[in-house]
Amino acid sequence: MALAKAALRGLGLGSGPRALLRLLSLLLAVQGDRGTEEYLKREYSLTKPYQGLGASSSGSHWELLGNAMVTTQFVRLTPDLQSRQGAIWNRIPCALRDWELQVHFKIHGQGKKNLNGDGLGIWYTRDRMQAGPVFGSADQFSGLGVFVDTYPNEEKQHESKKRRYSPTTQRIFPYLSAMVGNGSISYDHTRDGRPNEIGGCSAHVRNLNHDTFIVIRYLRRRLTV
Ligand SMILES: *[C@@H]1O[C@H](CO)[C@@H](O)[C@H](O)[C@H]1NC(C)=O
Repeated sequence: MALAKAALRGLGLGSGPRALLRLLSLLLAVQGDRGTEEYLKREYSLTKPYQGLGASSSGSHWELLGNAMVTTQFVRLTPDLQSRQGAIWNRIPCALRDWELQVHFKIHGQGKKNLNGDGLGIWYTRDRMQAGPVFGSADQFSGLGVFVDTYPNEEKQHESKKRRYSPTTQRIFPYLSAMVGNGSISYDHTRDGRPNEIGGCSAHVRNLNHDTFIVIRYLRRRLTV
């Protein structure tokens, strides 16, 4: 996998239809040249206070898209309403070799039905600020997408057709997966991204009392989430 080979320009988070998604902070740490020291890249990090976030007039490094909204306590990517999507993207081109991204968030929702496309996407891609069908961002992206999928599209289809997955292939949702796009392959929503994912696991992230942290690390050309 050659993620950091080309200078990727967009670092962003997006959310698809229907889930109250609160982003609490985002920290990007970078390893020094000899891998000895780690330091925080402030321009790619997002922490309290959030006032002025997204406003270019205040010199903010972040830009909001769709239904995303900033409050004093968190960045709300989407409200718990149907057909809403939102995202927040960093404005500064990013060409880092070894990095670690810590994402701190909460997902809440009342609805149980028709939650198609529901979830969170974390992006490290060539293009930015393009709303679309893949967790609030454009399909056929070039770069890395890490998805927290809270709705099992494929399992639901199988259920309605009275077919079942075997225990070895069945997934427990929410499901976390990663995909590296080359600009022309698509994220397959009806199959919950199975055809093009490079790895994944279950992750309980919905309607919890506590916050959730995801750590994405790209070190010596190896991705761990
Ligand atoms: C992307 O990958 C697909 C599947 O491997 C391939 O068919 C396509 O030509 C690739 N596109 C680019 C732009 O490299």
